[in-house]
Amino acid sequence: MGQFRNKSYVIKSHFLKPGSDKKMEFFENHYLAVDTEGKIRYFGINTESITDYNINEILDKTDCIIIPGLIDLHTHIPQYPAIGLGKGTLLKWLDEYIYPLEIKFNDPEYAFSLSKMFFEECLKYGTTTVTAYSNSSFDGTDSAFQAAFDSGIRAFIGMSMMDTNAPELLLKSTRNNIDDSLKLAGKWHGAGENKLKYILTPRYALICSMELMKKTGEVSRKDGFYIQTHLAENIDELKKVAGMFPQCNTYTDVYHQAGMLNEKTLLAHCIYLSDYEIELIKSNNSNVVHCPSSNRFLKSGIFPFMNINELIHVGIGSDVAGGTSLSMLHELKEAVETSKTYQLIHDHTSEVLSSGEALWTATKGNADILGISNITGDFKTGVDADFATVKLERMGIEIGNISLDTITSKLLYLLGNKYVDSTYIKGKLLFSN
Ligand code: GUN
Ligand code: ZN
Repeated sequence: MGQFRNKSYVIKSHFLKPGSDKKMEFFENHYLAVDTEGKIRYFGINTESITDYNINEILDKTDCIIIPGLIDLHTHIPQYPAIGLGKGTLLKWLDEYIYPLEIKFNDPEYAFSLSKMFFEECLKYGTTTVTAYSNSSFDGTDSAFQAAFDSGIRAFIGMSMMDTNAPELLLKSTRNNIDDSLKLAGKWHGAGENKLKYILTPRYALICSMELMKKTGEVSRKDGFYIQTHLAENIDELKKVAGMFPQCNTYTDVYHQAGMLNEKTLLAHCIYLSDYEIELIKSNNSNVVHCPSSNRFLKSGIFPFMNINELIHVGIGSDVAGGTSLSMLHELKEAVETSKTYQLIHDHTSEVLSSGEALWTATKGNADILGISNITGDFKTGVDADFATVKLERMGIEIGNISLDTITSKLLYLLGNKYVDSTYIKGKLLFSN
């Protein structure tokens, strides 16, 4: 493992690369040159350009395709053991299955070993960047950061803030929520060669006071941190939010009045938004995160991807353990299938999400939303070499005269929920099957 650190190398292979108009492009028999810093120095077909560099190693991976490292825009580390557990809908499921697990995560040793397994699993599925909730404890979150640091993954991690309506062992005061978040940010934001970032994490309106959410908005504006939360996921949740915040016209207004909507805000689910709310999100340049397998598992609803994607930035996340796998290829397949269900049930005419567009969303799209497309999500010169390889034979295809649609479709449908063959971050091999 890691044998290429401080070595420059060239890989000859076939590449799926994000292009314009939210589409992927396919490049056969191209060369990717990676320098000693783990950055991409060259991508193309010209072998003469490659000999200009001091290349230590040439790798022939023409039996594979290479994709940019996948980006998971929303998931929960402490919930990993709960994948597939529970039959209820959101609020009951949180109470019965999720909060007890998050209480367990208060133990820093347990939190470290679970987080270690979690990040290893992400790497095995080709995920190189993950945006994750920890639980509400300082120690548990500190352990999660340490495990991410050790694994070499790129991660945005936040301590789930909750100061009302949750079990005693997960609650803390408004002030301690903010103070602990800032302490963790002070320790970890920018650590691990800048691969680790702190993200402010007011969990959702039902368990956060207006004061806590206002303070979150203030800190985000002042210090430039991203914010992640949940919005409009479940009908019972919507009714409760309306009862708790009668001064707000809609659920989105709650976050707007708190000053939490800006271009660095990630709003997970957003299944039940009015046109007015979509406009509010758009005018604040905030981002929506689609979590298809979770929306199905918890019977939350059917997200109108194609309609909303035309209007605002939409990314995709696994939302484990509402979501049923850490495999983003699986999640992308779910997104495609959900868009078909939406079309069937709702309008019979809306476009269906293509597998290529889904893959674009989990690479360039999610990188744009996180403000890191100058660092990852593509094979441009100057970005970090974050990528995953998959053997062609596992996709049942051969190079030559094959359509882009077939390649992306086979990738999602045959490799969804399966490990990739290898995963690299900053040019370093972190997983090999
Ligand atoms: N809303 C608030 N917390 C959660 C959570 O942990 N998972 C999901 N799916 N929705 C939430
Ligand atoms: Zn979630």
